[in-house]
Amino acid sequence: MIIAIANQKGGVGKTTTAINLAAGFALRKKRTLLIDLDPQANSSMSYLDSTTFEKSMYDVFVDPTVAMRDVIRESTLPGLWVAPSRIALAKLEARLVGELDVHFKLKDRLNAVVADFDVVVIDCPPALGLLTVNALVAATHLLIPIQSSYFALEGTDDLLETIEKVRSRANPTLRILGVLITMHDKRTSLARDIREQIDKVFGKKVFRTVITKSVRLEESPAYKESIFQFAPDSSGATEYYRLCEEVIDRV
Ligand SMILES: Nc1ncnc2c1ncn2[C@@H]1O[C@H](COP(=O)(O)OP(=O)(O)OP(=O)(O)O)[C@@H](O)[C@H]1O
Ligand SMILES: [Mg+2]
Repeated sequence: MIIAIANQKGGVGKTTTAINLAAGFALRKKRTLLIDLDPQANSSMSYLDSTTFEKSMYDVFVDPTVAMRDVIRESTLPGLWVAPSRIALAKLEARLVGELDVHFKLKDRLNAVVADFDVVVIDCPPALGLLTVNALVAATHLLIPIQSSYFALEGTDDLLETIEKVRSRANPTLRILGVLITMHDKRTSLARDIREQIDKVFGKKVFRTVITKSVRLEESPAYKESIFQFAPDSSGATEYYRLCEEVIDRV
């Protein structure tokens, strides 16, 4: 199972979902690889110290002598490995101009290690460019976090169009695993309206588990811990654990 976490909108909870879903799988004794494809490297920093790795996914993309195996690092959580990103990834598009297999790079490189893991989770950048397309081509499943906000559904058409393009040739079996409502505030009527709107558009694809707003989820990356280590009794831990179960039920 290779799950891409994507939405070209910024700040909707992709990274928070990627790091905690990956941790949830690891806690369930699944050998899990978290791949960071965002030049901002937020997922990487949530588990690794940047001084502990030199090579990153950038090198995997541009240097044929660097394999996935060379960049994968063990996290402090047993069963969780991280393939980190660096800001250099921001110049990838320019660097790969003219190459014919640009959309298949990740899929091809991942092939060598995919058998070593039960689950691969890919954190995507907030754009529909080359990196997100590489993730969609390599993935078996897609999880779309949508922030519970007034502009929640803006841009989802472009995302769905990109998914269709990827499915039409490069990856016909790519499945939308589900849509995850994040940063929900149960108390406001606006949030309830937004939830109804999202349900109307995505129907059964919307996960029953909703991630509510929680300061603990914001804090945990600063301590290089998942929500399960940092605040096991918080709403965030309960919700991401439930999401993990729902994902396993759906595949
Ligand atoms: N459920 C939540 N409750 C409170 N804060 C949250 C929650 N989920 C995410 N956040 C916070 O909101 C901010 C954006 O979240 P996150 O980084 O996960 O989004 P993203 O989609 O990965 O952003 P980007 O598009 O920049 O990569 C972060 O500061 C994060 O800690
Ligand atoms: Mg992010």
